[in-house]
Amino acid sequence: MTEQEYYTFIQPYEDAKEVLLARLHVLEHNLYEVSKSQPIHNIQSRIKEKGSLEDKLRKKDKEPTVMNAKDYLQDIAGVRVICYFAEDIYNLVEVLKRQADLIVVRESDYIKNPKSNGYRSYHVVVGIPVYCMDGMEYFPVEIQFRTMSMDFWASMEHRILYKKEEGTGRKRLAEELRDYANTLVEMEERLFHAMEPSEVV
Ligand code: GTP
Ligand code: MG
Repeated sequence: MTEQEYYTFIQPYEDAKEVLLARLHVLEHNLYEVSKSQPIHNIQSRIKEKGSLEDKLRKKDKEPTVMNAKDYLQDIAGVRVICYFAEDIYNLVEVLKRQADLIVVRESDYIKNPKSNGYRSYHVVVGIPVYCMDGMEYFPVEIQFRTMSMDFWASMEHRILYKKEEGTGRKRLAEELRDYANTLVEMEERLFHAMEPSEVV
């Protein structure tokens, strides 16, 4: 795809991402009013760059065209919501899913069912309605809900193991990371239970 094709193609994904961010901020304020405790620590977002988009299509044995990107990729727009506790995530997901004009395309609960390497996160791909001159179309945005400890682990794992070849201590590091994942869960749960009952969401 050309630069021009790429920029025209991602525009509605950018719009969908902005709509979702606005909605998340509204929810954040509403939840704060109800519980007086802040559910979200921070939010990050990105649009997949042209190179990564093409690489991912090639990995899926597809020609790197915008048509294929539209058909085969659901994480062109991505939002990462970093919360304090797992409970905050479930509350947010529940209220978000109550929004009638938004569709849930895919959902994976890697908090209840962590990946075997220790990865934990709640992934949900939502379809966001984007209105333009000739009507409305849903555009997917991948949301990754994580607590700070889940994000710490995932960022470290990505930094340490990504691109690390077999046989260079990879196996030992992977085992160590699995242990830390358990330690982090325990730490987070202890902090949650250490809170005053009035602060529990
Ligand atoms: P891809 O979108 O092709 O990665 O596959 P998928 O849609 O089957 O994967 P999934 O929804 O499980 O994960 C998508 C994204 O979650 C990845 O791009 C990462 O950002 C994150 N992720 C998933 N698994 C891991 C993991 O083991 N470690 C880290 N650091 N991130 C992960
Ligand atoms: Mg994905």
